[in-house]
Amino acid sequence: MEPISSDFLVIGGGIAGLLFAIKASTIGTVTVLTKAASDEANTAYAQGGIASVWSVDDSFESHVDDTLRAGDGLCNSLAVETIVRGGPDAVRELIALGTRFTRIDAGGEDEYDLGREGGHSHRRVLHAQDLTGREIMRALGEAAAARPNLRVLENHVAVNLLIENHAGSNPACWGAYALNKATMAVRKVVARATMLATGGAGKVYLYTTNPDIASGDGVAMAYRAGAPIANMEFYQFHPTCLYHPAAKSFLISEALRGEGAILRLPDGTAFMKRYHPDAELAPRDVVARAIDSEMKRLGLDCVYLDISHQPASHVRERFPNIYKRCLSFGYDLTSAPIPVVPAAHYMCGGVVTDLCGRTTIPRLYAAGETAMTGLHGANRLASNSLLEAAVMGRRAYGAVRESLRNDFRAPPEFPEWDPGSAARTEQRVLITHSWDEIRRLMWNYVGIVRSERRLERAFRRIQLLKEEIHSYYWDHLLDSDLIELRNLVTVAELVVRCAMARKESRGLHYTMDHPEHDDEWLRDSLIRREDVQPTPASPA
Ligand code: FAD
Ligand code: SIN
Repeated sequence: MEPISSDFLVIGGGIAGLLFAIKASTIGTVTVLTKAASDEANTAYAQGGIASVWSVDDSFESHVDDTLRAGDGLCNSLAVETIVRGGPDAVRELIALGTRFTRIDAGGEDEYDLGREGGHSHRRVLHAQDLTGREIMRALGEAAAARPNLRVLENHVAVNLLIENHAGSNPACWGAYALNKATMAVRKVVARATMLATGGAGKVYLYTTNPDIASGDGVAMAYRAGAPIANMEFYQFHPTCLYHPAAKSFLISEALRGEGAILRLPDGTAFMKRYHPDAELAPRDVVARAIDSEMKRLGLDCVYLDISHQPASHVRERFPNIYKRCLSFGYDLTSAPIPVVPAAHYMCGGVVTDLCGRTTIPRLYAAGETAMTGLHGANRLASNSLLEAAVMGRRAYGAVRESLRNDFRAPPEFPEWDPGSAARTEQRVLITHSWDEIRRLMWNYVGIVRSERRLERAFRRIQLLKEEIHSYYWDHLLDSDLIELRNLVTVAELVVRCAMARKESRGLHYTMDHPEHDDEWLRDSLIRREDVQPTPASPA
């Protein structure tokens, strides 16, 4: 089958992928793959907004300090400086591409309403009411559609990267194999540079704010290709999702707490002051752990978030989407507290990149939630991820433009995808059960509070699941569920391995066996496939 060829392959059409693709289309042809509809990405669900120094009262120093404080000692300070300072230009580019952030009534051209969120010492979150991500996706989607050099292939799932000299000394990435979900054919997509922008992996946990696309495919593909992965133990749990069986962990934005919402127990007692002087506006790891601890202490199913003391008209105007969604479940947040619980939200770790989005594999770049630049350290500051994705999408474009300037090498030949003797998947139940088991064990044993025993138990089960999934994978024709399942078990293993290695508590990683910081562990948890010893139960 003829390969699909272009100068650039971008795997993922969220903010990181699209911004990179739009810029790259000015110097070459671009293919963007999205594994579902093009508007289905974590980006589309972002509510609070994008953090950037914007007001004259704010400063880069202050944003840098807040980011470092949230990151609990593990941020790379150069990454923080670079990305924070890149914020205003990235925001201006989003605006130039058509994003309409909420303005101040009767304000000047550059005056936008700035939200406040936990861990930020200033108002600095630009937003489009409480539908910021949808608005960014609309603007970038339209801008991408207007670029003649750029095409988006929806419902195409990247399976594996095309790596030249995989086992040799000079590997390089030349694209990927991708499954077309409509025809079920696997095709080569060849490119001179490949950008991994596949977002997060919230689906590795039973309860998550993330949409179904978030199965950590980029991390798993890069890991299989030999790239270093880091800091996977730092999975961020968002403190407040609506507690309702039909709400699918609908996010209740931190911006509500920025506007004064208070966390309460069922009897109305506010409890956050007992945990942190900044109470509801403490960093996210502190708030999520406090809620978890109160729920366990009192045997509660949820706690309550109360913004009913604020003027109803302000709440409806500032949070129209959240207001309507809660109302559809019978909760009027302008008149009573609403039930909330934490859920898995954001992958702080990922594929290690430099500050130009370069991975250690030549021609392979990564940006957005899939990448680990060092910005977030052990805990991401609210609304810093849209910032990172936008700044790094732009910076990666700069790097790729330079490195391809005098590069005229033709891609090497890669074999066609070989389905071998694989048969069509008959036993869907095996896939759904394994999927469910991974998500449950991650939730129960590798959640907000961990222990060595829980992690060891999770590790043993993951090894068995990995073995089953591995043999199942090669015996059956590929489909997207199977691809995701294989990636999910890899991501689960990486989270557990990193968590087991860290013998201290820091940021989002809290273990009862080592509840304090130990600066002996003040370093990133790096993991590479070649360094992992196969266990007796599992293939490497
Ligand atoms: P995504 O936007 O997730 O895009 C991933 C893309 O990769 C998708 O197009 C998907 O189809 C594609 N993809 C994945 N795997 C494959 C594959 N194998 N083959 C082909 N394509 C693939 N951050 C903030 O800064 N501010 C906020 O207010 C905020 N609110 C949030 C609210 C919610 C509910 C959620 C879930 C997240 C929120 N975040 C927020 C986090 C932020 O939205 C994400 O981190 C960010 O949007 C990630 O962007 P991305 O471009 O890296 O990936
Ligand atoms: C939110 O709106 O609370 C999400 C912000 C974020 O994840 O950064």
